[in-house]
Order: sequence, then C-alpha cells, then structure tokens
Amino acid sequence: MKTAVIILPTYNESKNIETLIEQIFLQQKKLKLWSLSVLVVDSSSPDGTAQIVKKIKNSQPKLHLLETKKEGLGKAYIQGFTHSLSHLSAEVVFEMDADLSHDPDKIPEFLGEIDKGADFVIGARYIPGGSIPKDWAFHRKLFSVFGNLIVRVGMMKLSVTDWTSGFRAIKKWVVSEITPELHNYSGYVFQVALLDKALKKKAKIVEIPIHFSDRKYGVSKINSVQYIVQTLIYVFTKSSFIRYVIVGLVGAVLDFGISYVLIEKVNLYLWLATLISAETAIISNFLFNNFWSFSHKKLETKFSLYVSKFAKFNIISVGSLAIQAGGIEFFGYLFGRKYWYFYKIFILAFIVIPYSYILYNKIIWKEK
Ligand code: GDD
Ligand code: MN
Repeated sequence: MKTAVIILPTYNESKNIETLIEQIFLQQKKLKLWSLSVLVVDSSSPDGTAQIVKKIKNSQPKLHLLETKKEGLGKAYIQGFTHSLSHLSAEVVFEMDADLSHDPDKIPEFLGEIDKGADFVIGARYIPGGSIPKDWAFHRKLFSVFGNLIVRVGMMKLSVTDWTSGFRAIKKWVVSEITPELHNYSGYVFQVALLDKALKKKAKIVEIPIHFSDRKYGVSKINSVQYIVQTLIYVFTKSSFIRYVIVGLVGAVLDFGISYVLIEKVNLYLWLATLISAETAIISNFLFNNFWSFSHKKLETKFSLYVSKFAKFNIISVGSLAIQAGGIEFFGYLFGRKYWYFYKIFILAFIVIPYSYILYNKIIWKEK
C-alpha cells in the first residue's frame, strides 16, 4: 500500500479538528491501494488545537502532529510537505482546510485520479458539479470568481479553473521539485505559486468538482487585502502573457522612436526608415520574448533553429501588420476616419495581441 498524507494546517481549529480527523480515517475502508495518514501542522494555536490532536494520537497511530511558529499558511504547508516526504514516506500529499469546508468524502475520488495518471488533482469550485456557498455575500462571490478569472487569464492557463482552491492532492515528485522554490510565499498566495510552478514542471493537472461549505466554528484567518495584493503582484511579475504585452509596448516605443529619428533628423526615405524601425522592433520583441516572457520555453542555442524561428516570427509580425492595416481600413469605411486611434487600440487589444500570443505559443515557443 502506498501512503497518502493529508496535511491539515491549523490555527485555532479546536472545534473542528476532531470531527475532521475522524471523518478522514473513515475513508480508509473505501481504499484498496492507499493508506491514509494525517499530518496536522499547528502554528501554536492558543485555543488548544494541538492538545486535542495529541489526545487523539494516543489511539490513532496514523495521526501525526507538527508544531510550528505562526508564519502563515504557505510556511505551514512547506513544513508539512517536507515532513511528509522525509518522515512519513508520502507518495501523495493532500492540502486540505481543517475547518470542515472541504468534504473528506471526496478523498477517494482525488486518489482515483492519481491512479489514472494525474500528478496534481484540484478540488475545483467553478466547474459543473462544484460550488461556493449560495448564501455568500455578493462581494465575496465576486472576489472569489473574479480573483480566479484574473489569475486564469493572467497566467494564460484557461484550462485550470480554480487556482486558489485549498483542496488538492499532489504527487511526491512534484512536491519535492517545487518546495525549494516556494520559500518566498508564506501567505495564501502560496496556493497560486504552487500551482504555477507545478504547471511549469509539466505536472498533469486534473480538476474534480467540490462543494466548498462555510465553516460553522471559528473564524477565517485570511487577510483579504494582503491576499489580493500579493496575488496581483504574483500574476503581474510571473505571467508570460503580461511580460509579452510589456515587450510589445517596448517594441512600439522603439518603432516610433527610430522612425522619428530617421525621418525627422536623418531625412531618410519614409519606406526605408519604416523598414529599419519596424525590423528593429521585431528583433527586440523576438529576443525579449525568448529570454524573458517565454524564458521557461526558451529556444535551444542552435543557430539554425534561431534562423528558422526568427523567419517565422517575422511572418507572424507581417501578419499582425496586415490585420492592423486591413482592420483600420474596414472600421474607417464603416464609421469614418475620425476615430482611427480608437480602432487601432481596439484592433491591437482584441485581435493583434491575442493573435500573436497564440501563434507564438503554437509556433515559436512551443511546450517542450
Ligand atoms: N498552521 C497554520 N498556520 N494554519 C493556518 C494558518 C497559519 O498561519 N492560517 C490559516 N491556517 C489554516 C486554517 O486553520 C484552516 O484550516 C486553513 O488554513 C484555511 O484557513 P481559513 O482561514 O479557513 O481560510 P479561508 O476559508 O478564508 O480560505 C479559503 O479560501 C482560500 C482562497 O480561495 C481556503 O480554502 C484556502 O485554502 C484558500 O486558499
Ligand atoms: Mn476556511
């Protein structure tokens, strides 16, 4: 039998922990291939959570307790991961809230997906069959749904619908490769960082629907403002899509700047100045995208490969010029020349940016 360790981070969960542990171990009888252990990572809860766990431990050999300082949810999970791999011979670790928001009945389903080949199973709230509490206040629903949408689009991984879920099962190899990279994320943003790193390591992600229930006892420890700010910072600094947009803006500035100098100061032919400035922007875009935006998919250092990819990159760029030129004529014809700048912004934002982003990912910087 392989061991699955269910990590329960706790801070003041004395009213929930006993029921939850009991319900988790009840799942054992549904499992043939997996032996369940529970690791409570308690951050010195003043309400006596650890004492309760110690009491149950006497009669439950598969229950473990790790007592830590209070340093945030992310830190608690990192300590739990490390302990599960080094002391509890975990093949799979679970993340799970200890306030009964996550239903232990789902545990066998997570392991079923692992058995079928998944590396990382997410309990997802926004797919058919999943849900968030109906009685949540409107602003809470909005934050939850929109927060996830921003991460989803920012990280350009639309196939994952629930980035912030705290109910997950993760294979050992993913945990051991990623844990060393997570030390900077001590708060709730840890969940987003963990999933992002797993995706970059090519872990096979599968979502199963879960219902998230509101806790009945105790209070949430989430600091919403800090959570939102940290998550936005994460997405803005890590997202290859946002980097790609920044690279595009730099390219546009170069293009205009060089044209200006060559046309106004050097008095070069218009066509030649345009050719030089546009091509400079294309080269800059190509290099910055390769070494920054898509650095995790960077091309191999082989000259012939660069030549052929750069040729394709130029063709895509010519395509985006054609879309812009054609599009602006089209809108001009329909609504008049006066609003040309509005058409240009619209075409860039909704056609050219997605068009090149998709083609870059499909043709130039492919998944390895
Ligand atoms: N050890 C430890 N240390 N545990 C903590 C800490 C900490 O600093 N902070 C929170 N926890 C524990 C709580 O005791 C609970 O078991 C679990 O982590 C989740 O914390 P809650 O305070 O109940 O979070 P929530 O319900 O508001 O947040 C939910 O949504 C987040 C975003 O969608 C959870 O599902 C999170 O896992 C999820 O990331
Ligand atoms: Mn909770």
